This record gives sequence, C-alpha cells and structure tokens, in this order.
Amino acid sequence: MEQTVEIRSKVTNKPSRIGKKYYVKTFGCQMNEHDSERIAGLFQADGMIQAQSEELADVLFVNTCTIRENADDKLYGTLGQLKKWKNLEANRRLLVGGCAAQKDKELVRKKAPWVDVVLGTHNLTNVINLLNQAEDWGPVTEILDEISTLPTDAPSIRESEYSAWLTIQIGCNNSCTFCIVPSVRGEEISRRPADIVNEAKQLVQEGVKEITLLGQNVNSYGRDLRIDGKARPYFAQLLEKLNEIDGLERIRFTSPHPKDFKEETLIAVRDLDKVCNQIHVPLQSGSSKVLSKMHRGYSKERYLEKIDLIRSINKDVSLTSDIIVGFPSETDKDFEDTLEVVRYSKFDSVYMFKFSPRPGTPAFDMVDKFVEKKVIDERFNKLKEIQTEISTVRYSRFVGTHQKILIENQSKKDQSVLSGKIDSGQITHIMETGINFGDLVDVKIYDSTPFYLKAKLI
Ligand code: SAH
Ligand code: SF4
Ligand code: F3S
Repeated sequence: MEQTVEIRSKVTNKPSRIGKKYYVKTFGCQMNEHDSERIAGLFQADGMIQAQSEELADVLFVNTCTIRENADDKLYGTLGQLKKWKNLEANRRLLVGGCAAQKDKELVRKKAPWVDVVLGTHNLTNVINLLNQAEDWGPVTEILDEISTLPTDAPSIRESEYSAWLTIQIGCNNSCTFCIVPSVRGEEISRRPADIVNEAKQLVQEGVKEITLLGQNVNSYGRDLRIDGKARPYFAQLLEKLNEIDGLERIRFTSPHPKDFKEETLIAVRDLDKVCNQIHVPLQSGSSKVLSKMHRGYSKERYLEKIDLIRSINKDVSLTSDIIVGFPSETDKDFEDTLEVVRYSKFDSVYMFKFSPRPGTPAFDMVDKFVEKKVIDERFNKLKEIQTEISTVRYSRFVGTHQKILIENQSKKDQSVLSGKIDSGQITHIMETGINFGDLVDVKIYDSTPFYLKAKLI
C-alpha cells in the first residue's frame, strides 16, 4: 500500500499542505461566491493548488446556503455523498462553512460527524487555523455569534479575470419576516470608502474591467459611517469616487432595497458613465397587506411611486426584481396586486421564488396562514407566463441597437458561442472568431428572446 509521509513546516511545525489540492463547492448567492473566492485565496496562501474537480481534491470546502428549504435539503444530501468521497482516502479533509452551517450550529456536526471542520459566516478567515486544529486534534466546530474579522481582510482568488465582486457592506439590518439572512450574516457593517476605492484600483491593476459592488442592502451603504447624524447619499458618493478610477470600465451593484433609493443614487446611475444602466428593485409582493406582513417598509403605492421616480429620472434604465409567491395569507386578490405591479413596472426580468418557511423567522410561525402548495404552484406559473411576455417585449427593444459586450463565457453546449452582458445587464450571445475573454466589443443586436440577446460584431 502507498505510504503517505506528512511534511511538517519548519516554522510552525504544523502539517504543511504545500502542493495539496483544494476544491471549493459553492451554493447560494454572490456573497457566497465571493466568500468562496476568499477561501480559495487563503488555501493558496497556505500552499495548496486548485483541483480540477472535487473528486481530485485533498481538501474540500463546501460553502452552504440556507435561504430556502431546498438549499438545506441539498446540503444534507450532499454531505451523505461526501462521506463516500472522504472515506476513499485517509488524508482527505472535508470542511463545511457558510450560511447553513451558521444557522444549524451543531446540527451539521451531529448529522455528519465525518466533517473535519464546521465553521460559520463570521469566522471565515480562521479557516486555516481550524484546519490545523482538526489535523492536530480531530474534528472541530467553530460557530461564532458575532463577526470576528471582516471577511474582506482575506485575499481572494477570482473566478473571472475581468469581472470582480467587491464587498462594500456585510450583514443586513432589515427584518423582512421571511428572511434568514440577518440571522446568519449579522448586522450591517459598511467598509470604509478609502478601502473600497483602493481595492477597486488594485483590481483594475490586475486586469479587471467590471466590478460588482456587493451588499445585502447596498443603497443604505454608509449609514453606520455617518459622522453628523444626517442620512446622506453615501452610496451615490461612493459610486462617484469609483467612477473616477482610470481603467475601470463598468460598475454594477447588488442588491439595493426599494425603500432606500435616494434620488441622488438614481441620478448617479444615469449620469456616471461607468455605472451600468440597470437597477434591481426587489418587489417581493405587490399587495400592501402582504408587504406590511413582510415588514418591507413600503406599500404598493409607495413602490409604484418609486418606479415612477426611477423612470422619470432615467427612462431607459433596465429594471429587474425579486418576487416571492405564496407568502402566508396571500389571497387571489393579493396575488392580482402583484401581477398589476409587474405589468406596470415592465421589469426586464424577475427572479421568482415560492415562499419557503425558514425556522426562526416570523413568517415561519404564520403556519395557520400558509398557502396551499397547489395554489402557490399555479400562481408561480401564472407569474412566469406574464413576465415572459413582458421580457419578450423588453428584450426586443434592443434589436437593431449598437451595444458593447464584455466577453465572459463560452457556451458549454456549443463552444463557438461566446457570451457576455451589455451595459444594462442582458446576457448576449455572439458567434464570431477572433474575440477573446475580457474583450469589450462593439456589437449590433440582431435578435432577441425573453432570456438573452443575439449579436454580431460591428
Ligand atoms: N438582500 C437581498 C435579498 C437576499 S435573498 C434583497 O433584499 O434584495 C434573495 C431573494 O430571495 C429575496 O429577494 C427574496 O425574493 C428571496 N427569498 C428570501 N427569503 C425567502 C424565503 N424564505 N422564501 C422564498 N424566497 C425567499
Ligand atoms: Fe433579507 Fe430583507 Fe435583508 Fe434582503 S433586506 S437580506 S430580504 S432581511
Ligand atoms: Fe446568500 Fe444563501 Fe447566505 S442567499 S446570504 S448564501 S443564505
């Protein structure tokens, strides 16, 4: 049988992982994708190299999500399979982190004792230390109630050479009654503007052309940094500062909250040349009654006023949204209100979700008001149908126009098809030779579907 000799680092006498292969498997949103890039950065700083697939890894990190019930189911299913993976080689290490680990605390350990390290969202940067501990003393779990070090302190290994995430804020201070995020990501903390601008400049030096600012509530950015007690348009100011960076081509941001949009931000989106012409306005529901139960901080009327304000400042902007179907107590009439707002707002696209009760959130306890699954399915399909019609019309407005796309991907099915986004965010396919990833190319849109555009080089 093959012998494995463990090399020990001369300096720390800790087991050295130089040359070992790691793989990070990510579930969930952009925050998690970016956290995974940081885990990869910490692993590489420890001497490890990236494995092509999880099967080939010595060290596997699973970054979990818990936003909806099926995210939890996926995790516990995956952990079962990973027991087999782990048992194939004695030296394999399995780590589980992220939001589900944070929420379930000891449960991951209980359900999957074969996991070497369980850590939460607040101690991501402690990952190497915990891995050392696990190798020295056996399995370890560390879930903290509060943030220890800002995850932004860790270096990151980016998925894309040309587009980068840039965290401007962590946590969330809202209390939407359906949402688990505040309890797993903690309170809202804004990073200092100078740190953000420096990171953006550094990214540009590394070849990045597009940055996406990340936060759960980006347009309330800076609330915790204010010095004179006044609510200022700090987010708009931040956009202005970033817009001045030479060599940076595009700035996107996600996710804003409809209640926190200030006119200055809308004007910044319109006037700053690098800030892309796209705004995400998560509606969640169009019924004032449901919105109030959701604790969203706006009514149907206030939301429609916001849409009017946005369009009066910036007529051409692309709007996108998130909608939850079947929130407890939602009636046919409430759902009709949602459809009305959807028809009025003319979103380019909508991320649709069926309500999923999350333990620990107030909506979880509205169990006597839960909507029947069959009704949720019907409403969901109806919304999808209506939005597809709207998206068809919205996407077709680009046909015949000139646009710029940043080439980012290649189709898995057909390698001759490249894709990227136009300024206002719509995915665009192009079949041309002689263009490369990272090229910002001038194109003409010649066809559209409700989900993507087709372009030719000019
Ligand atoms: N901070 C972001 C949202 C993060 S979660 C924001 O406020 O926009 C992304 C989306 O998931 C939410 O906008 C919501 O539409 C959906 N979502 C969150 N919790 C959910 C739940 N319990 N059931 C169904 N969808 C949910
Ligand atoms: Fe969740 Fe609401 Fe915070 Fe978004 S704003 S993360 S939906 S609590
Ligand atoms: Fe994101 Fe899922 Fe956590 S959506 S914030 S990874 S619960």
